[in-house]
Amino acid sequence: MKYLFELSKEHKTLPLAEILACLETENIDYNILESNEDVLLIETNSNENIIKNLTGRLSYTFYMDQFLFSCLPSSGELKKQLSPKIIEKKGSIAIKYKNRSKNIDSQPIVKALAEIYTKGREVTLENPDIEVRGLITDSTVYVGLKSAEVNRSQFEERKVQNRPFFSPISLHPKLARALVCLSIIKKDEILLDPFCGTGGILLEAGLIGARVIGSDIENKMIEGCKKTLDFYKVNDYKLYCSDIGDIGSHIDKVDAIVTDLPYGKSTTTKGEKMNNLYMRAFESMSRLLKNGGRAVIGLSNEDLIYIGEKFFSKVEKHNFRAHRSLNRYFVVYEK
Ligand SMILES: C[S@@+](CC[C@H](N)C(=O)[O-])C[C@H]1O[C@@H](n2cnc3c(N)ncnc32)[C@H](O)[C@@H]1O
Repeated sequence: MKYLFELSKEHKTLPLAEILACLETENIDYNILESNEDVLLIETNSNENIIKNLTGRLSYTFYMDQFLFSCLPSSGELKKQLSPKIIEKKGSIAIKYKNRSKNIDSQPIVKALAEIYTKGREVTLENPDIEVRGLITDSTVYVGLKSAEVNRSQFEERKVQNRPFFSPISLHPKLARALVCLSIIKKDEILLDPFCGTGGILLEAGLIGARVIGSDIENKMIEGCKKTLDFYKVNDYKLYCSDIGDIGSHIDKVDAIVTDLPYGKSTTTKGEKMNNLYMRAFESMSRLLKNGGRAVIGLSNEDLIYIGEKFFSKVEKHNFRAHRSLNRYFVVYEK
């Protein structure tokens, strides 16, 4: 079966990396048939429900569809493709589309889709049995049957402004979720954030079923983090007020680490030089992470990535522009 993931395009590399990490987490065998900024198209023998469940983890994808076909974005091309792609499932239907091209008129394309697929069926936009989705880009129209939709509004609802404890240091929940996905953490495994701040990463990990451990040098962060985790009913957590150098006295090995290191600007380093703090941090984290585990680390300075490479091997890097004066680098390391 072929599945099409409609990427959000909010970032150049994270949407794809997040899906590939989730496929790896679930040990799904697949071949990539097409990959670009708009879509990921894969072929797999895995059960549809397993693929569908991935969307419960993802944050930078809109939809996952059963792929029908793709072609040049014109109604003529579309009509040539349609006849062998008849939908066997019975029931009512809706044709939905997204046009990501400024140059292509979507109306003839949508009309062509409707002519073929709505024949002899009840058309309804409210809870149709079948939803045909067209994604129009400058070069291609991708057509699929909606299989699952990512609940993206949840991430906006969980923004730090809406949580019981606020601090501007917190990552956007969408980004925090993607970082958790990159760590390939499985349900019931242990994820550590040793610079947990408000707990944005722990919250996203806890919500997908990880057991979470957080620590931070600031007691007020630990108290705030506790309020947040309790508010969202993440129950399986442990929190410690601890310097990164001492966290090993509280916990044993963990399956994954996801953290956002202090940037030395808005977040405190207690006067410690960044190089020194990063060296101590990577040293501690390498002692705590299980062999083969992943550490997904946010850094403010590209020149400090090498410190992590003294302890781990680097898998990939994602650049992130937080705002004009702040670039972040999220690096996936493996032990
Ligand atoms: C960038 S913030 C983390 C933000 C967090 N991801 C969130 O969503 O709120 C870094 C955190 O590291 C903590 N920190 C600074 N120095 C530390 C140290 N030596 N050991 C442990 N935590 C430290 C700060 O108190 C701060 O909360």
